[in-house]
Amino acid sequence: MPKSSKKNAAGFIKLAEGFGAHNYHPLPVVLTRGRGVFVWDVEGKRYIDMLSAYSALNQGHVHPKIAAAARRQIGRLTLTSRAFHNDLMGPLLESLCGLAGMDRAILMNSGAEAVETAIKAMRLWGYRRKGIPRDQAEIIVCENNFHGRTTTIVGFSSDPLSTDGFGPATPGFKIIPYGDAAALRAAIGRNTCGFLVEPIQGEAGVNVPPAGYLKAVREICSETSVLWAADEIQTGLGRTGRMFAVEHEDVRPDLLILGKALSGGFYPVSAVLSQGEVLGLFSPGTHGSTFGGNPLACAISQASLDVLDKEGLADKAEKMGAYFMERLRSLDHPALREIRGRGLLIGVEFSRPVRPLCEALMRRGLLAKDTHEKTLRLAPPLVITKAQIDSALKIIKAALGEFAV
Ligand SMILES: Cc1ncc(COP(=O)(O)O)c(C=O)c1O
Repeated sequence: MPKSSKKNAAGFIKLAEGFGAHNYHPLPVVLTRGRGVFVWDVEGKRYIDMLSAYSALNQGHVHPKIAAAARRQIGRLTLTSRAFHNDLMGPLLESLCGLAGMDRAILMNSGAEAVETAIKAMRLWGYRRKGIPRDQAEIIVCENNFHGRTTTIVGFSSDPLSTDGFGPATPGFKIIPYGDAAALRAAIGRNTCGFLVEPIQGEAGVNVPPAGYLKAVREICSETSVLWAADEIQTGLGRTGRMFAVEHEDVRPDLLILGKALSGGFYPVSAVLSQGEVLGLFSPGTHGSTFGGNPLACAISQASLDVLDKEGLADKAEKMGAYFMERLRSLDHPALREIRGRGLLIGVEFSRPVRPLCEALMRRGLLAKDTHEKTLRLAPPLVITKAQIDSALKIIKAALGEFAV
């Protein structure tokens, strides 16, 4: 038993800070249990979770159906590697393709790994199908993007916190303004193989692009023979009030990237889905992952998709999101600048850093985090009820009272 087994909150925090890398700035709360929209700390205090692990907990904490599927599979078979087939991966790929109207899918683990997979798939397609000269393929991305933390991905970030100290950047990426279809058209050249974009920028502060943007992106990419990859790791699987955020404009990307809620928060599972032949271009040995597509991940993911469907969580996100936003709009605070979002992905922007507000919310039993310093992100599990939103609003109102200008 580690020496830490008898520690209180301060003790656990001291261990994490003392032995860990300081790559996060967590709120000073130590959680030990969760259920639905609630989590409890080591001292037994209950909180309403308004972050959902950055949208990985759309189905709520420890959903009993996903937990049961995980338990069943854990006692049966957990890992085969891709050296052999297993009896759960094929059915999950079929479910995913059916859900998204796509033709092929590949399973990975973290979101960043799925983004890397999409980048490789777009480049491979560029060389094999578009005839781009060797090593000249170019991918267009947007300012303020967030696609993960690998060296290639941070290399095309426009956020100095992500890039500084981690160069040299991988070549082959061009950054354009977000939400600007004309900029996309202008940036496309002979060697452009893909455009990678979030349908709503989550980490940048819940930036919703202008209406018609996704439709225009679809048209431009089709006209110019460029693959469109939609990173729906945060916006997908019900979060914005549709199963996928691209459905708001009735369009389908060539590549759809999923992660987070694909496992209901139980296990890292990510995926890339493609239309047509794109993913079909990988041949044995060109891509892979020891854990990608393992039976435990597949059992958990299948159950997570089933919960999203059976509980109508995308519809719930739309209704509860509309209610939450309307009530938030009635809040009055001199530092409040804007409330934006879609479904249950909501950003409340203030004129100053919101960390003290997050701390006040925490003291009153609500957990939320700032994104890009001045925006409070509110993204509860999609199973949240109206009564729970009302309780959250009471806490937010009270905490705003403490958030002096
Ligand atoms: C849009 C988007 N893409 C990619 C990622 C990276 O996912 P992961 O942290 O699982 O690597 C995130 C994580 O927040 C994300 O929001």
